[in-house]
Amino acid sequence: NTVFLNGEFMPAEQAKISPMDRGFLFGDGVYEVVPSYNGKYIGFAPHLARMFVGLDTIEINLGYSESELRDICDRLIAENSNDENGGNLGVYIQVSRGVEAKRYHAYTNTGKPTLFIHTFAIAPPPSVDAPKAYRVNMTQDLRWQRCDIKTTSLLGNVMHFQQGYANGFDETILFDHNDFVTEASSSNVFIVKDGVIKTPKLDNHKLAGITRLMLLDILRKHSDFKVEETDISRSELLAADEVWLTSATKQVGAVTEVAGTLINNGKIGPVWPQVQGLFSQYMF
Ligand code: PDD
Repeated sequence: NTVFLNGEFMPAEQAKISPMDRGFLFGDGVYEVVPSYNGKYIGFAPHLARMFVGLDTIEINLGYSESELRDICDRLIAENSNDENGGNLGVYIQVSRGVEAKRYHAYTNTGKPTLFIHTFAIAPPPSVDAPKAYRVNMTQDLRWQRCDIKTTSLLGNVMHFQQGYANGFDETILFDHNDFVTEASSSNVFIVKDGVIKTPKLDNHKLAGITRLMLLDILRKHSDFKVEETDISRSELLAADEVWLTSATKQVGAVTEVAGTLINNGKIGPVWPQVQGLFSQYMF
């Protein structure tokens, strides 16, 4: 498996970084996951645009353009596609602030950012004929107040995800202190109620998911569904006709249980296949 680290392509086993890297010491960096199926990316441009906004926000000057990054990703996909992964690859791009002389909270940006890109096998795009049903946990969102930054500091997300995983759940949906849905530990959340598709409106408590963005755009352009970006309370979630998760690797995932409460009697509802079908047709 070939990876890219700081200007060079190499076998994964040869990739080494310093323990003084601020990505390791502080989780001081950002990342992206871009899905690719048979060499075709889903949302490469918006994923990279979000990464550049994140880099600006935390004052890291990467020194690579989007098209340079795309060439690197293209080469990794070409080298790493094989029969085993069937050409279904997630491209993971991580930029950390790099090595500085001492461990000190303030940064000087005297080092070069560390750029690491690797690919990993992902599931093929969801099929509406053989869908996966997600069973999810729910809990209070105890992460920090800048969840709009796609940072590699993921301990909060990891703890929330693990709490569900250890109890046999596939994901964990999170609520703010007013009991409104923020997102899930690695996905955005949608519900359907009386034919209206709803998702929480964006703020600093959730990531502006690219799958969410593309899905909203597709629904507004290519369907007659009514779509709302609005607050969703815990009781609205539990009483929803359908609940979905979106993320780069899931696309639209249908939820059939939220922490013991069955959604649509535990069966994937009728809107999901239409919407996943539209996503498959129009994803860019
Ligand atoms: N996770 N919210 C959080 C906290 C996430 O980590 C993710 C993505 C999303 C969905 O964003 P997008 O549609 O851009 O993938 C929402 C990625 C896939 C991960 O950490 O592996």
